[in-house]
Amino acid sequence: MQFRRSGNSGLLLPAISLGLWHNFGGVDVFENGRQMVLEAFDNGITYLDLANNYGPPPGSAEETFGKIMAKDLHTHRDELVIATKAGYLMWDGPYGDWGSRKYLISSLNQSLKRMGLEYVDVFYSHRYDPNTPLEETMGTLDHIVRSGKALYAGISNYPADVARKAFAILKELGTPCVMHQIKYSMFVRDPEEELFGLHKEMGVGCVAFSPLAQGLLTDKYLKGIPEDSRAAKSHGFLKEEAVDPVMDKVRRLNEMAQNRGQSLAQMAIAWQLTDERVTSVLVGASSVNQLHNNLKALDNTSFSSDELEQINSILNG
Ligand SMILES: NC(=O)c1ccc[n+]([C@@H]2O[C@H](COP(=O)([O-])OP(=O)(O)OC[C@H]3O[C@@H](n4cnc5c(N)ncnc54)[C@H](OP(=O)(O)O)[C@@H]3O)[C@@H](O)[C@H]2O)c1
Repeated sequence: MQFRRSGNSGLLLPAISLGLWHNFGGVDVFENGRQMVLEAFDNGITYLDLANNYGPPPGSAEETFGKIMAKDLHTHRDELVIATKAGYLMWDGPYGDWGSRKYLISSLNQSLKRMGLEYVDVFYSHRYDPNTPLEETMGTLDHIVRSGKALYAGISNYPADVARKAFAILKELGTPCVMHQIKYSMFVRDPEEELFGLHKEMGVGCVAFSPLAQGLLTDKYLKGIPEDSRAAKSHGFLKEEAVDPVMDKVRRLNEMAQNRGQSLAQMAIAWQLTDERVTSVLVGASSVNQLHNNLKALDNTSFSSDELEQINSILNG
């Protein structure tokens, strides 16, 4: 595994990390999730990404992870960077959503219980709450780090103008924001416009999620929508209608990947790693095989300028 420094912090993150958004819930097969986490760890994936609401049902991915920790990984706690988040709907009433101090602290306490941990390594505000003062949300992250329940603070999905203010508030409070977690892939490139520059300027790391566009940037959908795919699942968050319109590009990218001796998934991950402003590429997987395939992206992360141009022309075509 290669490790990259998260912004100006002391924290090194693996170039590829694993997210537990899908395939680790109460509806999924525990043993499959357990094998993926153990394979990830054995291959140097030290950063594991969770959130209070991952499942389904919400909370169950943290419970699954808690069982894996207790069973297999408790003696390796100091070798792992475990992250969780709060920001989306978690429980009824006005205190189970968004970015208030009341919600974030209660939610983290619940997350720690579900995972059987004393602290997480990173606690993120999962999204910007326009109705809570930014000072309250950031002040809560600072408080959480000072309380020892998280070692580092992060934010996720913040628009650039608000992220800039959030970074400044956290710095002023003495708990600098260590990473911003954002959606980035060949299909979602807007972070290149403003956010990447902002992160560099403010010394904040960048964790890039859904690098495979939830599976679209793989060979999985080239022959239709498989039954076991995210697009076919009711809780998949990938609409069936999203598949067809991009398949022409996916076919051409896939050919290019084959010419490079890579799978499309590997090329999509390697392409992100050409940009030093990406600290860690945060992938998902539904099997150990997929995870192995994705890890091999590290075998070839160099692109000629012709290849980079060709990718742009396929994406813009
Ligand atoms: N901060 C946020 O708001 C936010 C939002 C979304 C995600 N995230 C984080 O980012 C993580 C990754 O997101 P993601 O799961 O959307 O990432 P992704 O890597 O874009 O998509 C993962 C899916 O792609 C398919 N796949 C992966 N490797 C493959 C391979 N080698 N060949 C064929 N198909 C492959 C699998 O789909 P199938 O399941 O269909 O097999 C897998 O579940 C999440 O787990 C979560 O931790 C954060």
